[in-house]
Parts: sequence; C-alpha cells; structure tokens
Amino acid sequence: MHTAREERMAAAQLPQANVVSILYEQHAQLRDQFAVVPDLRGEYRRAAFDMLREMLARHEAAEESVLRPVTSKLLPAALSRARNEEEKAATHQLAELERMDVDGSEFAPRLRQLEEQMLLHFVREETEEFPVVLGELSAHEQEELGRWMLRAIELAPSHPHPTLSGSPVGQSVLGPFASLYDWARDLLIRTREELKER
Ligand SMILES: [Fe+2]
Ligand SMILES: [Fe+2]
Repeated sequence: MHTAREERMAAAQLPQANVVSILYEQHAQLRDQFAVVPDLRGEYRRAAFDMLREMLARHEAAEESVLRPVTSKLLPAALSRARNEEEKAATHQLAELERMDVDGSEFAPRLRQLEEQMLLHFVREETEEFPVVLGELSAHEQEELGRWMLRAIELAPSHPHPTLSGSPVGQSVLGPFASLYDWARDLLIRTREELKER
C-alpha cells in the first residue's frame, strides 16, 4: 500500500477488530499526520508534531510488544530484526526532533527524512508481516491480537524511549507490557502447535 486511501480500503475489507485492520488504519492516520505538520507554523506545528510523536511512539512500541513476538517466529529472523531496528532508529530520530525548534531550518528536512523511512517501514510491515498474520492465525486469534494491540497502545509511553525501542523484551519491562509479551508468546506457541498438527 502506498497511500492512506489504499490502507483504509484494505482495512475496510477486514473486521474492524482485526489486528491487521487496526494497523492499516493507524498507518493511514500516521501518513496523514506526517503530511499535516510541515504545512503549519509555530504553536500549531508544535501541537501537530506532538500528536504525530505520540501516535508514532505508541504505535511502534505496541507493535514491538504484541505483533513482533508473533511474526518473529513465523518469518525469517532477519526480517523481524530489520523491522525492530527500523523502529529503534525512528525512535531515536523522534526523540531528537522532539528537542528541536519546530520552526528552525533543520526541523522540516529531518521530519521529511523520518517520514520517508517510516513510509517504507509501513510498506514492509504490510507486505511481510500482515500476510502471515492473516494466513497463519485464526480469525479469533487475529481479533484477540487486535484487542491486545489497542490495549498496548493505551499503555505505551507517549514519548519515544530510545533505550527500550527495537527490543520486544525491552518494551516488555514496562510493567503492564510484560503480560502482553507473555500473551503474544503463548498465542504463538499455540499457533505453532496447531500448524504442526495439520
Ligand atoms: Fe512498526
Ligand atoms: Fe506499523
């Protein structure tokens, strides 16, 4: 998917509570928010960036805690490592942007760079991770994963944490995240056993 519209259309093909539908919708919202920030100035730009920063920090932390423990066992390890590394790099850049003057000359080019990297990251998740979730988990498990993804987004820190990012285990040390990580791992073990039995 290369536009927010395509992502929303893909989300609409799935039940609303499905984890992939939720993630497509969030990718679309993030694309839209990336587009809004550079058109604004001053306090409006700061407010729009704060919203983007919070949405992105929560989205990526939740993916690392709920989605990645499942997909990392269903896909080659190098792929999930690469996605975690991209999320870690994005978190560092987000933390740097947060400290910058939003009207300074460096801010817009740095934001544009982050946007380009994140849009590629979304496409990789959509083409590599989403199909295995849809293909290997039952409809009920996909909805359960969606429920936990929404819960993780609520619990996730609203500011980027470069020291925790890039590591599902690192994210899981954040109190309530531990249970999400355990749940995702248990779901994965069950799924793997069911696949072996087929
Ligand atoms: Fe991600
Ligand atoms: Fe994502």
